[in-house]
Amino acid sequence: MTEKVNRQVVLSERPRGPIEARHFNIVESTVPTPGPGQILVRSIFSSVAPPHRAWIQGVTYRDQVAVGEVIPGLAISEVISGPADGPARGTLVAAHSGWQEYGLADAAEAQPIPVGDHLARHLGVMGINGLTAYFGMLEVGQVKAGQTVVVSAAAGAVGHLAGQLARIAGARVIGITSSDEKNRLLTDKLGYDKAVNRRSDTFQQDLADAVGEGGADLFYDNTGGYVMEAVLPLMATHGRVVCCGGTAAYDGLEQMPVGPRGIPLLIILKRLHLVGFIVLDFLERFGEAYEKLAGWIDGGQLADLAEVRDGLDAAPQAMVDLLAGDSLGNLAFRIGPDPA
Ligand SMILES: NC(=O)c1ccc[n+]([C@@H]2O[C@H](COP(=O)([O-])OP(=O)(O)OC[C@H]3O[C@@H](n4cnc5c(N)ncnc54)[C@H](OP(=O)(O)O)[C@@H]3O)[C@@H](O)[C@H]2O)c1
Repeated sequence: MTEKVNRQVVLSERPRGPIEARHFNIVESTVPTPGPGQILVRSIFSSVAPPHRAWIQGVTYRDQVAVGEVIPGLAISEVISGPADGPARGTLVAAHSGWQEYGLADAAEAQPIPVGDHLARHLGVMGINGLTAYFGMLEVGQVKAGQTVVVSAAAGAVGHLAGQLARIAGARVIGITSSDEKNRLLTDKLGYDKAVNRRSDTFQQDLADAVGEGGADLFYDNTGGYVMEAVLPLMATHGRVVCCGGTAAYDGLEQMPVGPRGIPLLIILKRLHLVGFIVLDFLERFGEAYEKLAGWIDGGQLADLAEVRDGLDAAPQAMVDLLAGDSLGNLAFRIGPDPA
């Protein structure tokens, strides 16, 4: 009998500047055998997100990805085999099995997910992005009705949900993206009050006009860099900044300014509260968040933007496109068919 082949996306070379598709390789290996406490899964979907770039760049809250290593990440998968006290064969799970057709994951950490039509959603609005937006905006941001809220990467996987949650809370919401097309979608379909283009020559003025004289009470920041530098001077006194992500610094750190410049004095003068968080801080409350998110989706108040590309081979270019701003909402790729 011929052994089953496992196709995998590995890091072929560590980028020294912006990442390119050639920094990845598609390789073949044999399907692994689970060790004690592990499950073998067949992957159906995985997603591409800025943290992948950060993990390649250096040590974060996890080890740096080594050259030759399979790109890590969460996947929606079907359990093939594992320990008797783990999820049964055929169970659908969200597990950290990486960008490959077959992977191993810790049985205790695999999260069973319901069978349904929207499997990829468990990587998006009903997965880590929805949870991040929920806890970032509502708990860390403490958003209140009547506040003016600015969201960076506002059409991104986390951003488009964070902005809508602020809108649901009764805030006035301003999004920042890199295209007029994305901005139209935010204002026409997702209920943002205003949206400005960070690539426009008049970005700073457009942002100031959108925020208005009262300043921004809350800034949900996904990017850092020059976008953060543009927003902070427009914050209201005692304003709050939710530091969710620093995408501007992930891709080619050597070329990035260390910045934001001139910020410490600004923080003092405006008495700003900058609060960082990691969504896993709220692990014990994930159930509550899933319930609320599902309610808003079912009630038509929360829409999710998602793009699914076809095949494992699409992953390297998807990573490049994501960082270039050429994606909308959660960017996933299909690795294998849905279970029969
Ligand atoms: N704290 C946590 O627990 C947690 C959890 C999950 C994710 N995150 C972080 O949240 C952030 C958003 O993640 P995501 O998955 O939703 O990604 P995303 O926003 O869908 O994708 C990245 C977006 O960032 C924007 N961007 C790229 N380079 C930029 C630059 N140099 N300056 C400004 N904007 C730039 C682009 O949007 P435009 O071109 O439209 O601006 C791009 O589409 C990431 O930084 C991620 O690491 C944090």
